[in-house]
Amino acid sequence: MAANWKMHKSSQEAKNTFKELVESVGALPSDREVAIFPTFTSLAACQELLTEGYFLGGQNFYPADKGAYTGEISASMLKDLGCTMVLVGHSERRSIFDEDHEFLAKKAAVAIENGLFTVFCVGESLEERQKGKLAQVLKKQLSALPEKIAGLADKFCVAYEPVWAIGTGEVAGKNEIIEAHGMLRAFLKEIYGPSAEKVRILYGGSVNPDNVQEIINLDNVNGVLVGGASLNADSFKKIVLA
Ligand code: PGA
Repeated sequence: MAANWKMHKSSQEAKNTFKELVESVGALPSDREVAIFPTFTSLAACQELLTEGYFLGGQNFYPADKGAYTGEISASMLKDLGCTMVLVGHSERRSIFDEDHEFLAKKAAVAIENGLFTVFCVGESLEERQKGKLAQVLKKQLSALPEKIAGLADKFCVAYEPVWAIGTGEVAGKNEIIEAHGMLRAFLKEIYGPSAEKVRILYGGSVNPDNVQEIINLDNVNGVLVGGASLNADSFKKIVLA
């Protein structure tokens, strides 16, 4: 169950929310893992609160070790602040920051090489869906992942986030989620063989405490990536424990 806090919260607010979440959730059920993706400026504050079953991730990084990249941070800098995960390919990075296929392929490879568990986000726009391009778009986006990854399931997961469902309150329908996740599972197996069965596929896009239960019980849905409804500890607690 992953929380993407995007560009929200001061470090004190992030710390308070994370603390409230951990305390109110109590003992995590054995089939649950929680990942929090706060802003860079809140990572240090959140790192102090990490406890069993909780993971910290960066929302972004630049795929070089170090150097003249003003304003950027590296995979090792994320790890220095307790991150074991990173988001790559989020639709906001693709559309607002023009991160293209080649750049995302580089980021995915560098993140995985650096041992950061990569939440690789894919998803079609409304226009692409209406033109019947779902399969084509998902397959192309997924092909940015490196072809050879030893121990796949420990290295990355895929988050299916239809662009039209992100932050809109319009969650994808049951059949739309089943169809897209089924395609992703099939494409992953085409690339990686049978071991791709163990790669987790998360759903993201307007997940909330009222719809999460139905979503996580669908075929090939192994978790959720939550934006808006993860900002409040009580609301995200309900999702974590759904
Ligand atoms: P949302 O965002 O839950 O607010 O729709 C999801 C995401 O962008 O990861």
